[in-house]
Amino acid sequence: MSETKQLRSAQWFARTGKDGLIYRAWMKNQGLPAHEFEGKPVIGICNTWSELTPCNAHFRELAESVKRGILEAGGFPVEFPVMSLGETLMKPTAMLYRNLVSMDVEESIRANPLDGVVLLCGCDKTTPALVMGACSVDLPTIVVSGGPMLTGRFRGRSIGTSDVWRFGEANRIGAMSQQELYQAEAAMCRSRGHCAVMGTASTMACMVEALGLTLPENAAIPAADSRRKVLAQLSGTQIVEMVRADRRLSQVLTRPAFENAIRVNAAIGGSTNFVIHLMAIARRIGVSLSLEDMDHLSADIPLLVNLQPAGAFFMEDFYYAGGLPALMKALEDKLHGDIPTVSGKPMRENWSDAVCYDPNVIATLEKPFKEGPSLAVLKGNLCEQGAVIKPAAASLPLLQHRGQAVVFEDIEDYKARIDDPALPADENSILVLKNVGPKGYPGMPEVGNMGLPKRLLEQGVTDMVRISDGRMSGTGFGTVVLHVSPEAAAGGTLALVQTGDYIRLDVPARRLELEVSEEELAARRARWQAPPMVTRGYVQLYQQHVSQADQGADMDFLQGGSGDRVTRDSH
Ligand code: FES
Ligand code: MG
Repeated sequence: MSETKQLRSAQWFARTGKDGLIYRAWMKNQGLPAHEFEGKPVIGICNTWSELTPCNAHFRELAESVKRGILEAGGFPVEFPVMSLGETLMKPTAMLYRNLVSMDVEESIRANPLDGVVLLCGCDKTTPALVMGACSVDLPTIVVSGGPMLTGRFRGRSIGTSDVWRFGEANRIGAMSQQELYQAEAAMCRSRGHCAVMGTASTMACMVEALGLTLPENAAIPAADSRRKVLAQLSGTQIVEMVRADRRLSQVLTRPAFENAIRVNAAIGGSTNFVIHLMAIARRIGVSLSLEDMDHLSADIPLLVNLQPAGAFFMEDFYYAGGLPALMKALEDKLHGDIPTVSGKPMRENWSDAVCYDPNVIATLEKPFKEGPSLAVLKGNLCEQGAVIKPAAASLPLLQHRGQAVVFEDIEDYKARIDDPALPADENSILVLKNVGPKGYPGMPEVGNMGLPKRLLEQGVTDMVRISDGRMSGTGFGTVVLHVSPEAAAGGTLALVQTGDYIRLDVPARRLELEVSEEELAARRARWQAPPMVTRGYVQLYQQHVSQADQGADMDFLQGGSGDRVTRDSH
């Protein structure tokens, strides 16, 4: 069979008569000769470029490199925009729109004459949103990440996004002036790229590489390094080969690939947001995965990578030390090596030649950087469907802790009272923040690592147990219990906690208990009223259909996929 017949795009461009004329004619206004439409794999470059997503602002240039690779391999590149999500500017939180972007991506791919897709991903949510959408169509797909920023330098010290929290608290207690903050922020974000620590963006870049969705080294090459463009060009070449081999996402995204990603995430001390995004991706592609799987698969994996926020170094150091291939080699006894990747070759080939050039950055299983696990899933009456904590970024003595709750009903309540000298809190208290979950905020913002009361900071307290139904930035740290499900706004037990209640956190036993009797909880539940919901637009759709965090916080109607077939024409 000729390639023309096999290609999906031929259902548009190889047509005769009126329909073919329409599909080709308007493309020709871009100055394209007729032979562009003859049997070439049409490759969509799904671009999240936006000047409002600074982490992805270099993506038009990156797309040019991808195009060179596609052309070189005999494909026909077509770049298209989708809604972009920037962590730093979007209110109330970029997470509110992850599912919307996934719908944009899914429908854009399916509706158009594409044979394969390159996903250009960078800032946190752009990666899961694009992968989720692409999974629901299941064409041959490769991911190219934008790469991390160069390490910041401020007053002789290396800095990165995790210092946002340190600088913020130093400023609150008067240890850093506003003028100093201005200087620090310029020093921190001094190059193109996404956050330079093992925050969510880098975690997502590692996730897609560990899943086999990228060429090796994708995770760590700095955005400003010319080798990032080389990787983009080679990915462009690769996607054309993938179309010719009809190698689809579902052939790469199998259960063992997810297991690899979970184990790699544990070894890199990845962001807690990984849990939500991987769960959502699994449910799109039809792989069964539970929070318990995440816990079990992470349990015997120590922290091998010494990167902020759990350690000391930065993504740039990680790249120079050998990057994700060297990490996967160190972890190879725990990984599936014989599963396919986008290259068609077994996963093992991505790491077999890797060398670790700096054991201070990438350690070994025999001599890890820190004992694990770096991620734990909690259960108990306060989180019947689960909650997560990142022990790697927490304080060891607080991982088993019993204390009295200091409750904030919502974020406004928190902001109004946290620095009130009369707040009944000491260092043993547990700060509880409600109504910051998927439905409640809405959109599940990164406020779970809420700042400590000023009075306690001034006394030298650096960490307290904090519990919420929200998320935490992947750059954040502290003894922070996140993603409590069901969330308060959905009537979870979290909604019933009152100031003064005792809570017991026991991470080694994976428990989180509210020490209030069943009778008392039932009485409180009878008095509880659900908060009002939004009544129009996307946010209404979101609140009505978003699943809880333990399910990936995707819309219930977006699970699974609809494939790539569209039979009807537009005219
Ligand atoms: Fe974009 Fe951190 S703000 S990756
Ligand atoms: Mg973030």
